[in-house]
Amino acid sequence: MAIGIGIAGAGTVGGSLLRRLLEEHAVIEVKTGLDLEVRRVAVRDLSKSRPGIPADIITDDVMALVSDPEVALVVEVMGGLEPAGELVLASLRAGKPVITANKELIAARGPELFAAAADAGVPLLFEAAVGGGIPIIRPLTETLAGEQVDRVLGIVNGTTNYILTSMADDGVGYQEALAAAQRLGYAEPDPTADVSGADAAAKAAILAGLAFGIWVAPDRIHTEGITDITFADFKSAKQLGFVIRLLAVAERRPDGVSVRVHPVMLPVDHPLAAIRGATNAIYIKGSSVGELLFAGPGAGGEPTATAVLGDVIDAARKYLSGSQVAPAIKVEPGDVVDFGKVDTRWYLRLEVTDSPGVLSQIASAFADAGVSLGLVRQEGRGDSATLVLVTHTAPEAAQQAAVATLRALGVVETVASAIRVESEEA
Ligand code: NAP
Ligand code: HSE
Repeated sequence: MAIGIGIAGAGTVGGSLLRRLLEEHAVIEVKTGLDLEVRRVAVRDLSKSRPGIPADIITDDVMALVSDPEVALVVEVMGGLEPAGELVLASLRAGKPVITANKELIAARGPELFAAAADAGVPLLFEAAVGGGIPIIRPLTETLAGEQVDRVLGIVNGTTNYILTSMADDGVGYQEALAAAQRLGYAEPDPTADVSGADAAAKAAILAGLAFGIWVAPDRIHTEGITDITFADFKSAKQLGFVIRLLAVAERRPDGVSVRVHPVMLPVDHPLAAIRGATNAIYIKGSSVGELLFAGPGAGGEPTATAVLGDVIDAARKYLSGSQVAPAIKVEPGDVVDFGKVDTRWYLRLEVTDSPGVLSQIASAFADAGVSLGLVRQEGRGDSATLVLVTHTAPEAAQQAAVATLRALGVVETVASAIRVESEEA
């Protein structure tokens, strides 16, 4: 029996998925026993040429996927909050399993959509929403369902990792690296979501929700992007034995859950320091299982389509067997730890006047805030000097208070750079 698939979106991910479903139909059937038939494809612009896709199945009405009785499964790969949200909800309510790659939508409306799927008794699958081609949603919701996860660290945005490693390792400029990431199909339609950290924050919300069962809305996640990182930072990082990465950090603490996304300096021997280009990696620490590392292609049409196709096959099998139970994703609101209370370490690069007493004023700013200094390195340049500092661990609020005092000191010309350091203290 053929299973009709409706796909909303035929861009980077949808285009790769369509190619696989249309060109590899027979191979998939031999491998899985499933006859997956693309019945409808919804796009925004009907005038675009779409070689290989039969013209009579293309529509610009996304809701036609819900009303068409020949569409059994709905795939949403168009992105954005609307009309994607309306399509997903209406499909679930119509009893149609939904597969989506849309982390922005899941992060914004996860609990509501999981409940709608449970009410309808149909699956809502979103393996591609985090980590592109890396299997991470299934491991978290199935294999690790009984594990107490304590910590999740992830490089979860391919575009920014591509930009950071192109700049650091190949000396490519920021704009040039971003343009290449767009050309290669890694970036979001609006790449601001990538470089601002918003895309990583959406993924961090999903990872934290599945790992801890506590839903942290993206607007409760402290988020910083990579736009302020400069070549001077890469040079300092190298001198100090660090690399710079955009990291999502989710932790379970006695007082609640903490989730944050920001650039970090990582020691070169940290497992995530070796992750380059559009590769993503997610490190999980569980109280019983210990440490796990999931790594692979985190962005791009083909790897992402592999994850979507896997979900399509899973949903089709459930559909055929009649066992259309929603995945047991249960999330609750919970205590979110204020970012100011989270322990952090900072790397700072200051331009200061090179005169007697400067260092003692700077040391006092840290001492008064209750932050101790781990490393101080000075490079003189005549009347002024560059000062590189690495603090010891202290609450984020104390680190910020110290930096605010520094900025107000007459001897500090500029705080040229402030990046957190993510490493175990010796
Ligand atoms: P894309 O290349 O911009 O493709 C978007 C597709 O959706 C296009 O075919 C577009 O139609 C269609 N579309 C947009 N708005 C529509 C509307 N209102 N009605 C009907 N069709 C509409 O985007 P993408 O990179 O494939 O990303 C799609 C989704 O996958 C997003 O949620 C993204 O976050 C997620 N994702 C992407 C990647 C990646 O590496 N690219 C990885 C993981 C997840 P036209 O063709 O007519 O413009
Ligand atoms: N724009 C995203 C990234 C796509 O660069 O990681 C994968 O979710």
